[in-house]
Order: sequence, then structure tokens, then C-alpha cells
Amino acid sequence: MKIIVTGATGQLGNLVIQHLLKKVPASHIIAVVRNLEKAAALAALGIEVRLADYNVPESLQNAFRLGTKLLFISSSESDDTLRVVQHANVVKAARDQKIQHIAYTSFAFAEDNPFARVHLATENAIHTTRIPYTFLRNGGYTEFFINASLKTYIKSGTIFTNTNNGKINSVSRIDLALAAATVLTEEGHENKSYNLVSNTPWSFDDLADILSDISGKSVTHQSVSYEEEKSLLVQAGLPKSFAETTAFIYRTIAEGQMERTTDDLQQLIGGQTPIKELVEKALQ
Ligand SMILES: NC(=O)c1ccc[n+]([C@@H]2O[C@H](COP(=O)([O-])OP(=O)(O)OC[C@H]3O[C@@H](n4cnc5c(N)ncnc54)[C@H](OP(=O)(O)O)[C@@H]3O)[C@@H](O)[C@H]2O)c1
Repeated sequence: MKIIVTGATGQLGNLVIQHLLKKVPASHIIAVVRNLEKAAALAALGIEVRLADYNVPESLQNAFRLGTKLLFISSSESDDTLRVVQHANVVKAARDQKIQHIAYTSFAFAEDNPFARVHLATENAIHTTRIPYTFLRNGGYTEFFINASLKTYIKSGTIFTNTNNGKINSVSRIDLALAAATVLTEEGHENKSYNLVSNTPWSFDDLADILSDISGKSVTHQSVSYEEEKSLLVQAGLPKSFAETTAFIYRTIAEGQMERTTDDLQQLIGGQTPIKELVEKALQ
């Protein structure tokens, strides 16, 4: 059996490979990358590394040769029109090379999310191949919120957001990677879609409590408007485009768009990493 992982030098792909190595020998894994130098550590582990670019169909055909299962990690391309073409190239190569099972990193509740059109288009493209599939409909990454920037909240004692204390069903990459490795190495996940979100969503009030608890200093969460949030983030040194994206995501949280839950992740991997543990790790 050969398990092919695309995007293997990315953050999620790398974690998937770490989990796979605990379940199958390195000789069963093929890492597909677009930069061989970046993949030196994977090759050193005894993993076969193949070069392919989602923009170059022939490279994908070669990279998928004699593969049994494919984990197709969605492209990080920001131009969605181009991304659809890239994804179609991957799906066609999987069909031509007779891959027997495709697991695809889609987005949670893709059918109800206008920002997940590329994922839905890709799911439909995969359906046309009739290859057994598993749609790993990943929730938003917890690392977008829980990262080294938390230190500034402890320093200032205040978290300003326009989330209105809405709930966040985010998931850490480490848990999503374990879910992907599980689907690739266990039977019974063919032709299933999993909405991989937390079943215990958290809020910024919860985060303030956790930071107070860990640091021994008082940290509070205060609500601001969308415009105020953008200005605060720019003042803090974030590029304007990132400040806008962050304030936009916070607004979707305030609107309750990230509070929907399922037990799919728990059923697949038996639990999830608690937010407090992720906060402690981010503060190290
Ligand atoms: N659920 C969420 O909250 C969320 C958030 C952001 C993104 N995503 C999606 O989830 C994917 C994985 O997340 P991540 O954190 O692992 O992202 P990442 O670290 O940016 O990894 C993306 C991977 O895709 C590879 N890639 C990009 N364009 C490619 C191309 N043209 N041909 C071949 N490979 C290409 C990258 O190669 P290099 O290593 O050479 O750069 C990298 O390995 C992202 O690509 C994006 O589609 C999800």
C-alpha cells in the first residue's frame, strides 16, 4: 500500500506525516512537494519524496503513479479561480492514475458557507471520478487565534475583539492531522463527509479566563466595533489586509457562524486537545 500526501511540506501535511509514521512504515508513504529542498527532513526519514506542482498536470500524473490512497491537501493559492483549476488538475491525475481512495481537506459545513465554494467545487469534481472519497471538512484552525500573540494580551491585560463573545468551533492542526491519518489507515471511512469542528466551542471571554489563570495576572476581554478592531490591529503593527481579514472573521464569530458543532472529530480520534493545553503551548 502507498499513501500519497500532497502539501507534505506544509503545516498540516507535516503533522499528518508525523501521525502516519506511528501507524505505517515510512516505505508506505509518498510525500508530494513542490520544493525538494524543503522536503529534505522527510526524505531523511525514509519517505519517498516526489515533485509536483498543482499548476502542472504532468507533474501530478508522475507523482501519483502506483499510489493506493491519496490525501489531497487543498492549495494555499489565494486566487480562487486559479485554485479551482489547480484542484481539478489534482483530481484528474488521481483518476488517471487509478487512485483507490481520495481524502480531501475541505471546509466545515461547506455547502452552507459562501467562502467554501472552491471546496464544494472540488468535492463535486471528486464525485465525478467515482473514486471512493472521504471529505475531511476541517473547521477553522485554532492556531489562527491561539498563537504567540497571546503574550501581548497578558502584557496589556486586555483582549479587544469584535467577536461579541460569540463561540468558536475551531480545531488545532494537530487534531485535524490525526483525523486525516486515521481515515487513511483505518477501514470504513469511504464515501463519508466529516465536519471536523470542536464539540466544545470557546469564546474570547473563556480565553481571557484561561490567560488569567495561567499567568496569575488579570486579563479581560472587551468588545469593540468592527472598525475599531481594524484600527487597533493596524496600530499594533499588523498589515492592513490581515487586520481586515481578522476583523471580518471576528464579525462572523459575533454573528454565530462559528458556533455550529458536531461529534465527528470525537468519533474519529476519540477527543480533542483542550484549548487550555493549546494556550500553554502557544505561550512557551
Ligand atoms: N481550516 C482552516 O482554518 C484553513 C486556514 C488556512 C488554510 N487552509 C487550507 O488548508 C490547507 C493546508 O493548511 P496548512 O496550514 O498546511 O497550509 P500551508 O502550511 O500553507 O501548506 C500548504 C501546502 O500546499 C502546498 N502548495 C501550495 N500551492 C501548491 C502548488 N501550486 N503545488 C503544490 N503544492 C502546493 C504548499 O507547498 P510549500 O510547502 O512549498 O509552500 C504547502 O505544502 C491550505 O493550503 C488551505 O487550502 C485551511
